[in-house]
Amino acid sequence: MGTVILGVNSAYHESSACILKDGVILGAVEEERFNRIKHAKCSRVDNADELPDRALAWALKSAGLKPNQVDHIAFSFDPDERLKANKDLHEKGVPTGDFGTPEGEETFHRHLHKAAAELKRRFPKAEFHFLRHHLCHAGSTFFPSRHEKAAVLAIDGIGEFNTTWLGIGEGNRLTPILEIPYPNSLGFVWEKISEHLGFDVYSGPGKVMGYACISDPIGEDTGVDYAERFRRVIRLTDSGFTVDNEVMRFRTRDFSGLEPLFGPRRPAIVDRYEEASIAAGLQTVTEEVFVHLARLLHKKTGLDALCMAGGVTLNCVANARILRETPFKYLHVMPAANDGGTAVGAAAYLWCHVLGNKSRPRLDHTYLGPEYTEAEIETALDTAGLKGVKSDDLPRQVARMVYDGKVVAWFQGRLEFGPRALGNRSILADPCRFDIRSRLNNKVKERESFRPFAPSVLLSDASRHLQIPSDLDGAEYMLLAVPVNEPRDAQRIPAVVQENGSTRVATSRPHVVRPEVNPIYARLLEEMKSLSGLGMVLNTSFNISEPIVCSPADAINCYKRSKMDALAIGPFLVSR
Ligand SMILES: [Fe+2]
Repeated sequence: MGTVILGVNSAYHESSACILKDGVILGAVEEERFNRIKHAKCSRVDNADELPDRALAWALKSAGLKPNQVDHIAFSFDPDERLKANKDLHEKGVPTGDFGTPEGEETFHRHLHKAAAELKRRFPKAEFHFLRHHLCHAGSTFFPSRHEKAAVLAIDGIGEFNTTWLGIGEGNRLTPILEIPYPNSLGFVWEKISEHLGFDVYSGPGKVMGYACISDPIGEDTGVDYAERFRRVIRLTDSGFTVDNEVMRFRTRDFSGLEPLFGPRRPAIVDRYEEASIAAGLQTVTEEVFVHLARLLHKKTGLDALCMAGGVTLNCVANARILRETPFKYLHVMPAANDGGTAVGAAAYLWCHVLGNKSRPRLDHTYLGPEYTEAEIETALDTAGLKGVKSDDLPRQVARMVYDGKVVAWFQGRLEFGPRALGNRSILADPCRFDIRSRLNNKVKERESFRPFAPSVLLSDASRHLQIPSDLDGAEYMLLAVPVNEPRDAQRIPAVVQENGSTRVATSRPHVVRPEVNPIYARLLEEMKSLSGLGMVLNTSFNISEPIVCSPADAINCYKRSKMDALAIGPFLVSR
């Protein structure tokens, strides 16, 4: 029996669990997929001990392990470090008892220790380790990457106190170079501006990124240059960047510092170019920070490869600018760049850096979550009163439907780990139809009309319309926005390209599919190719305003209340 490490994240949100055995990732899943609450829980001072119960239970069961077989628990947060750095800040306007106040930080500290006590109780033979949050983000991207030595950049809202970590990974070691402290937080800027524009704090940043694409930073009504306004608040420095917290007022509900720059706080999302220009201004300055940090890191390391993680690195447009404008030749982004990924990072960091093992965990795909047997799927269909027809060639049948303009839900194999559906819990449509985009946004996904869609494309066809970099890493996980080859390519695949407001360059964030990684999905793309001449589908996550579906029952519920045409689940096809 080898060494079993259980990686756990529960400090803020995106609670998750990962099981690592002898340096091999056996499974990883976010609690939101089970409890059906987006991000699993809100970030509060008093709920760090709300553990990812079902994720933990699944991780253990799927690996065929009993609680007393866990040797180590790797927890992706350090409460003592947190308390020391935050309890004496005395920030203006922060409500007593909240993050950043002595009372709030004492409460947070207590609940983190409660989480540890409960984990020790459940796994009595395991040695418990609190690990610093950014080392876990850094560990989640570098150790599973293919690089023996790489620069590493972690950017999020906040860890214990730092918001950005720059360092170097070599073999089984991570070494810090520079850390940027709160309140200089790019993640928090995105959260606060999301709220200012009427989005919610958790799902907002992703939507604001899509919103930014439809305009440029110059306000249509006012002529204001919002990038310039953001540059007054976010400044590049020799040691990274600073954020003016007199304006942002993080940790308060006060938006008045933002009003002179960006107008009054919007009570709800306003679908106007003026607001989109504010988003575009933030996007522009975020890209400038990314490029600046990457150049800084390159200057200090002289390395070719950069590995990134942390919620802000889900920004596929900013990631692409690093590849385009800095000396780095290779860019690897952890597909679960959010806090969910720190469960993997904590386990990997413990295995490699703390325990000193030379072998590193691999991450060749994100299919690390639950899967279901044919019998389980059949039972779920029966229970729901749905008739599934067993198909002898499902990829072919589904490709035909998609080619004919149908929208088909696709449920196969193991659930993806991370926020992107990559062909196991996906909704598929024809990327060549212009009208499919508004149909999907308005009628199927019930979401804002400006939200973009991305394609899954066979590796062999990826470069036909898109400028795919030779290093595929980011392009395999929808983490890199790449331009079309020529303007007319945008007309060939109109449903999966965005015309970027500021540059008017059409881009797409592809999921490049290698047949050895997902054979049945690659087969479907081959069938698309035989029909349309192009091995590509539009791929959007299988959910409607909820976490991505996990079980057959989730899939069936989502399908039933949707306007999708069909559901391909395991070997079965259900049509309306
Ligand atoms: Fe984080």
